[in-house]
Amino acid sequence: MTKYIVGNWKMNGSQALAGALVPRVASLAAQVGSKAEIVLCPPAPLLPEVGRRMQGSFLALGAQDVSPHKDGAYTGDVSAAMLKEAGCRYVIVGHSERRQYHAESDVLVKAKAEAALAGGLIPIVCIGETLAQREAGQAKEVVKTQLASLPGGQFLLAYEPVWAIGTGRTPTLSDIAEMHAHIGAMVKAGVLYGGSVKAANAADILQTPGVAGVLVGGASVNAEEFCGIIAASEG
Ligand code: PGA
Repeated sequence: MTKYIVGNWKMNGSQALAGALVPRVASLAAQVGSKAEIVLCPPAPLLPEVGRRMQGSFLALGAQDVSPHKDGAYTGDVSAAMLKEAGCRYVIVGHSERRQYHAESDVLVKAKAEAALAGGLIPIVCIGETLAQREAGQAKEVVKTQLASLPGGQFLLAYEPVWAIGTGRTPTLSDIAEMHAHIGAMVKAGVLYGGSVKAANAADILQTPGVAGVLVGGASVNAEEFCGIIAASEG
């Protein structure tokens, strides 16, 4: 089955990074005849540049957020149609950083996923528990609640335990398998794992049952690390 390798640049990168990283990733993908679906999600202003540099390659473009509205007086927001026109195939929705710093609720995340689907994009909907929730034994219940408010249609999920994001800490492979089985039993969608994925742990995580791919943050703006993750997906 096709594995997804999704790079979430977050608020990092520049035209210079796009110029250095995208051709390198594209040529590695071509060289290994990558069967993975490799998606780069740079900040919105870099979408055209990254898109231009990936033309003719196996890579796909994704955004990090989308407005729930079609168009109108929503200063600062970007619509699904605009992302589509910029060349996006995917959009990350409900990332824990947006839930935390922009108070995004499950209701809003659902509306964004619906707007993405209506605009012809594939949403990558992020779910996952905090450390306090995991320690209280609530991890499964938390993701169940987050899953209850998802739209119908073709989307991907990313299970990202909040405590594993940017911390260098990852769940054990059996914890990942257990959570992915739990999620997979409730929703028919590919489930990616995210949280401190790097070249050194990517092969093990990608081979864990129920893992359809990885959502990579910090390591996705490091060409060496990101290429290592792609190489690990071919094994
Ligand atoms: P990380 O982030 O790989 O830096 O932990 C993952 C994410 O937030 O998608």
